[in-house]
Amino acid sequence: MQDLFGDDAAGAPRRVTLGPGAVLLRARALPDERQLLAAIDEIVAAAPFRRMVTPGGFEMSVAMTNCGAAGWTTDRHGYRYTPLDPASGQPWPPLPGLFWSLARGAAADAGYHGFAADACLLNRYEPGTRLSLHQDRNERDFSQPIVSVSLGLPAMFLFGGNKRNDKTLRVPLRHGDIVVWGGPSRLFHHGVLALKDGDHPTLGRQRLNLTLRKAL
Ligand code: SIN
Ligand code: FE2
Repeated sequence: MQDLFGDDAAGAPRRVTLGPGAVLLRARALPDERQLLAAIDEIVAAAPFRRMVTPGGFEMSVAMTNCGAAGWTTDRHGYRYTPLDPASGQPWPPLPGLFWSLARGAAADAGYHGFAADACLLNRYEPGTRLSLHQDRNERDFSQPIVSVSLGLPAMFLFGGNKRNDKTLRVPLRHGDIVVWGGPSRLFHHGVLALKDGDHPTLGRQRLNLTLRKAL
């Protein structure tokens, strides 16, 4: 495990199996870095990051926005996908072609062919921000995987199992890494430990994460 998850070294594997149907593709998004960041700027200009409220009434520490045909939202009424951004009443910004093709390619690299994302949740973590263990289960079709792209500051990703108290793997994620999970691990619990402070050369004191899903 040390070798698989340790710091980058010459010959470090680019592809790491995290569990059944779950793969880490190291640096997979790096060639598209500039275009990804430009697309994110456009999305955020139209649908700014905001801190949503859980059904229990807690404001999440992760700031979120979306693009695509539907966006993941939470408020006092529950978790769901909505076609409109509740903050503006307008449709979420369209899913950039690059997001779609990157997700399709990464999913294929992980063994999921023909993945056609229709929604992308964008998460913004600042130092101290965390995301508690949860399942992604508001999508209609669990036969389709989740494709998760990390940008900016490194974070410790937790990847568990079907049960909330299953043992979790700690996976350091860095700028450009992509994690794909699906099939037998599609509903595995996952989360992110509190972000450590740092200064990323392109993104500064933050981490961005894109999760691409087939929501509808
Ligand atoms: C998520 O589960 O929505 C995001 C995971 C991550 O930020 O790596
Ligand atoms: Fe998630």
